Amino acid sequence: SWTPGAFVDLTVSELKEKIGDDKVVLGLSGGVDSSVAAVLLHQAIGKNLYCIFVNNGLLRKNEFESVLHQYKDMGLNVKGVDASARFLDALAGISDPELKRKAIGNAFIEVFDDEAHGITDVTYLAQGTIYPDVIESISVNGPSVTIKSHHNVGGLPDFMKLKVVEPLRMLFKDEVRRVGAELGIDPELLGRHPFPGPGLAIRILGDITEEKVRILQEVDHIFIQGLRDAMLYDKVWQAGAILLPVQSVGVMGDERTYEQVVALRAVESTDGMTADWVNLPYEFLQKTSNAIINRVKGVNRVVYDISSKPPATIEWE
Ligand code: XMP
Repeated sequence: SWTPGAFVDLTVSELKEKIGDDKVVLGLSGGVDSSVAAVLLHQAIGKNLYCIFVNNGLLRKNEFESVLHQYKDMGLNVKGVDASARFLDALAGISDPELKRKAIGNAFIEVFDDEAHGITDVTYLAQGTIYPDVIESISVNGPSVTIKSHHNVGGLPDFMKLKVVEPLRMLFKDEVRRVGAELGIDPELLGRHPFPGPGLAIRILGDITEEKVRILQEVDHIFIQGLRDAMLYDKVWQAGAILLPVQSVGVMGDERTYEQVVALRAVESTDGMTADWVNLPYEFLQKTSNAIINRVKGVNRVVYDISSKPPATIEWE
């Protein structure tokens, strides 16, 4: 039967054999999958693994700095690239969800390509693709319908001419986490909720500005930190906040306000293909809502999303 220890031994020796003395480039995202893929490859080929971690300006609050630090502590050869301005420029004025994904995907490829060209004689591109990504990109992005284009599957534009290596391609998420534990990766990193590649861009409905990103980062931070403090974080499969393109009337002191609405979403799931909204305690919701409205300037109303997938999706875009 399958065990993480046997998987690690076999995969590390296969990677050694396949890659030899060649160089590999890998894009780290801060998520479980790319991190586990990186550590596996690092065990196999050491310094010949070149990791690139791009800040697209759409990550959670403080995430770029803290995760970059963590990767360095793990001994990975990682370069952090802050390309926030480039992504925000590419997104300016775009409201359509799929156009956002395309703009982000293209900007990512450009940034990544620039960085990869800085490494001499690189042969392979490694990706943290896992089994559900493979399945979803076949079934969802089939020839006739595209519901959401997941840009982290499918490899690179031709001109980079890199061979692809995907050591987690046959694993489910829980298996990836077990492999990560076997590799000694920090449980905090392994327990992180999934986070979409386009990040907060698909949680800001309508067009994206620096100010909206900042507001949503603050809201998200209060929500996620609150889940951690209430020991609820690990009971939820994925959680986040959505900034709605709606203003509503409120009252603050004796002033009328007319400000943004945010939605909170927390779901239970095993693989993201189906999901149920989580019955978070009312007391927790009350506390979180008060904290958001009191502390985040520009937000005067919080709602909780009670839709399951299907027919709703986890993300709102
Ligand atoms: P949906 O919204 O389709 O999301 O129910 C299912 C899972 O996929 C994530 N997701 C994405 N991940 N790029 C990604 O890397 C994307 O464009 C994307 N869209 C959705 C979502 O966060 C959830 O975990």
